[in-house]
Amino acid sequence: MLIVLEGTDGTGKSTQCRLLGEWFESTGREVVLSREPTDGPWGRRLRESAATGRLSPEEELDCFLEDRREHVGQLIRPALDAGKVVILDRYYFSTMAYQGSRGLDPAAIRRRNEAFAPLPDHLILLDLPIDDALRRIGARGDTANEFEQREALTKCREIFLSLRDEPFATVIDSRGSVEEVQQAIRAAVAKPGREEGAA
Ligand code: TYD
Repeated sequence: MLIVLEGTDGTGKSTQCRLLGEWFESTGREVVLSREPTDGPWGRRLRESAATGRLSPEEELDCFLEDRREHVGQLIRPALDAGKVVILDRYYFSTMAYQGSRGLDPAAIRRRNEAFAPLPDHLILLDLPIDDALRRIGARGDTANEFEQREALTKCREIFLSLRDEPFATVIDSRGSVEEVQQAIRAAVAKPGREEGAA
């Protein structure tokens, strides 16, 4: 089973991924937790460029695709084939949202990814108003840089929410407590996913 948590920065993805993994383990399932960008060479390059901001949108897209190709081949597919629960903190929906917010076409990004990356059984979209998200990441949104960040995150949120009607997607309001959000995620993944529901 492939479960993906997505959302803008500040929505609490990493905490919720960890708690969800612990819960699956407590039910006796084998769990693999991972994240993108990865800690591999492409992922490291991307994290460095996030600090320096030097890559063009196209270069960035190519790096995310290479990073994901490795991730799928080396970790995601083998773990799914072994029957494990794979929980991802970001996946190609982040590429649609973030590189989409830089002007690339989200639908084209999606097609390039789905040519090699397995679809999730459950996509959890953690949603937060941008003011709350900025507050959580320690920004007020009123310096020039933060204004740009607000614009970009607003666009990202729109692209994430455009996925709400996908059969595998659930939008969860992340303004609740960590426990409330975790309960909502568990309820969502307990429902039939993409394949189980397809019959
Ligand atoms: P993030 O999950 O915030 O990592 P960190 O552990 O460093 O907090 O991801 C880093 C940034 O990468 C985040 O701002 C979103 C961005 N990103 C993309 O632009 N495209 C992608 O495809 C992915 C996976 C992430």
